This record gives sequence, structure tokens and C-alpha cells, in this order.
Amino acid sequence: MTVHFIGAGPGAPDLLTLRGRDLIAASPVCLYAGSLVPQALLAHCPPDARIINTASLSLDQIMAQIEAADAQGHDIARLHSGDMSIWSAMGEQLRRLRALDIPFTVTPGVPAFSAAAAALEAEFTLPGLTQSLVLTRTPGRASTMPPAESLTNFAATGATLAIHLSIHQLDRVVADLTPAYGPDCPAAVVWRASWPDQRIVRATLATIEQAVAGSMERTALIIVGQVLANDDFGESSLYATGYDRRFRPQSAQSPFAGEQV
Ligand SMILES: C[S@@+](CC[C@H](N)C(=O)[O-])C[C@H]1O[C@@H](n2cnc3c(N)ncnc32)[C@H](O)[C@@H]1O
Repeated sequence: MTVHFIGAGPGAPDLLTLRGRDLIAASPVCLYAGSLVPQALLAHCPPDARIINTASLSLDQIMAQIEAADAQGHDIARLHSGDMSIWSAMGEQLRRLRALDIPFTVTPGVPAFSAAAAALEAEFTLPGLTQSLVLTRTPGRASTMPPAESLTNFAATGATLAIHLSIHQLDRVVADLTPAYGPDCPAAVVWRASWPDQRIVRATLATIEQAVAGSMERTALIIVGQVLANDDFGESSLYATGYDRRFRPQSAQSPFAGEQV
């Protein structure tokens, strides 16, 4: 028996890996985080699968379901939204599974920030503007933030910021970022990226609150950074004419000449 943790993606049912789909189809039990995981993914479950929405369960109750399936020798497909490497509560489940000696696998998924980037048709790292993307959040009722991970500290880097779980605190985000980024810095909110009712608001730090006007709740990402509106960036060396590299040696004298590609 194995518990397969599977990234269910940001919302569109076809943004699921083939591996994830096949594991869902092969598992007689499916536990899914119903608050964000699209119901359409459950169509991949076997016809007689036991399907449980874990949105209202405690960790102890989830573990009881896993232990019951383990006793019957049934594999479990455990679906979490996006990718499990960020804000999935997978870590605490893995810790318990390790203690119980129950085997598991982890299959990545498409995270919401990637779906938001696609919706915005944006590259979040542009030469000469920024080479870093910060995935962060503001403190919530259930989660405090380590003091060094404040928005003002991240703002000091000038990196592109993808701020999760924070649309209800947009005013605070704007107040924390404006001193470092300036009121004219481009900002966007992508609501339900990749869902059929996806919405995008583009503005600046000075105007984003008014542009959103409280119309977006919960499943929204706030993106802030010069990459959103600035065409004034360099081209990467990777494809530059004359740039000597392993896959494109520029002369017979190149250290890369004759290397197996
Ligand atoms: C608990 S976190 C889960 C993140 C997820 N594990 C991931 O890989 O993106 C939920 C937050 O992610 C963001 N989010 C998740 N899905 C989204 C989507 N389709 N569009 C916009 N934001 C989304 C929102 O900020 C939401 O509050």
C-alpha cells in the first residue's frame, strides 16, 4: 500500500501531469482537498473508488482514513491544489507516514504562480530587471510569519513578488511595498488562474486597491514587480549571436567545439 501525493494543479482539469492522472486511475481510494482541487479530476478515479473530501477533516481524521486504507492494502491518491511544495500541509502528513512506516510517493503539480504567469503572459525573471521571484504570503489567522520574512524585507530586494493567501489584506500589501517599489510599480491580481471564470486586474501599486475594489476573494494571487510592464530589459545571453556555449560553439577554437551534444 502506498499514499501517492499528487499536485492537482491550479484549477484547469487538464493542468494535471500524466503521472498524476495515472496514479489517480490506479488508486482505489482518493482523498482530495475539496476547497481548491477541481472536482473534474475525480473523473480519473476508478468507477468504484472511495472518494473523500478532506476539507472538513482534521489531520487526525485524515490519518485515520489513511490507516484504514493501509489495513485493506488499498493505495491512496492524495490530491492537493497546485504543487505540494508550497502551502499544502503535506509536510505534517509525511512526518506521520514516516513514523507509521507507511510508504508514499510525491508527484509535482502546476503551481498557481505558474498559472498566473501564463495568464499574464509574463516572464517573472527578466535580464537587467530581476532574476528572482519570491513566493510569499502575509500572516494569517492560522499562520504567523517568521519576522525576517516580512514584505518590507523582501521589497528591499526589488524582486518579483508572488503574494499568496493575501487578497483580503491588499491594503497592507500596498502599504508595505510602496516605499521600496514606488507607487508607479506595476501590480496585478489574478483570480482563479486557469479556471473558466479567471479574472485579471492590472494596475500599479497606487491604483490596484481601487481597481480590485473588493471584487476578488480567496483564490487570488497578487503579483508585484517591474517585469509586469517594463519592455526595457536586456536579452538573455543564451540566444545571443556570438555567445559561445556548449550547445552552440562559435568557432573551432571554442572550448566546447567537438563536444558531444
Ligand atoms: C493554500 S495556498 C495553495 C498553493 C498551492 N499549493 C500552489 O502550488 O499554488 C492557496 C493560495 O494559492 C493561491 N492560489 C491557488 N490557486 C490559485 C489560482 N487558480 N489562481 C490564483 N491564485 C491561486 C491563492 O493565493 C490562494 O490563497
